[in-house]
Amino acid sequence: MSKLWGSLQALIPILNDARLAHITLHPRLGCEQYKKPADVEEFAAFAAECKHTLIYNGDILTLQDIEQIEARFPTLDGIMIGRGLLANPALGIEYKQRKVLTDKELCERVQAMHDAMYQAMSPRLQGNTQLLSKMVPYWEYLMPKMEKRYRKAILKANSADKFMQAVNCALANY
Ligand SMILES: Cc1cc2nc3c(=O)[nH]c(=O)nc-3n(C[C@H](O)[C@H](O)[C@H](O)COP(=O)(O)O)c2cc1C
Repeated sequence: MSKLWGSLQALIPILNDARLAHITLHPRLGCEQYKKPADVEEFAAFAAECKHTLIYNGDILTLQDIEQIEARFPTLDGIMIGRGLLANPALGIEYKQRKVLTDKELCERVQAMHDAMYQAMSPRLQGNTQLLSKMVPYWEYLMPKMEKRYRKAILKANSADKFMQAVNCALANY
């Protein structure tokens, strides 16, 4: 028996007795961090015994990942996505349209989102430091296929102008 399943088995009777709207399960132990993949088999075992409606979470990065989970667990109440949406904020649109965006379409979407965020944040934040501290971290995750040198230029930008130039350059060369 895996350590995760041991913990889940102990929790199932308690969770089944609790008045819950639903459960979102990320089938991995906190101490494992993101080192190995989320365990879909453990999720399936939990789903078989859980009386509440369930939401799946863990390692959903692409439209195909969503479709695989949907096909395997047709009665799910939903799928929660973390890093996949940070990497590709258009994943929801891809799901709705059942079509993966081209690189050009993705760049247009990211540019529009980025410009809207920048315009919304810049009047509210004081100077370069605050603005960069809010905007730059998105680029730790956004568009993982991006060439390293473009991401590096974004992450090390020390003024709003240099940051915007680096972003525009990265998107133009994506
Ligand atoms: C940048 C970031 C911040 C997160 N912050 C929280 C948090 O504040 N509370 C929490 O319970 N989980 C947090 N998580 C974990 C996510 O909720 C999610 O369970 C985890 O990322 C696994 O889903 P994923 O594989 O779709 O990313 C965070 C994850 C990321 C990547």
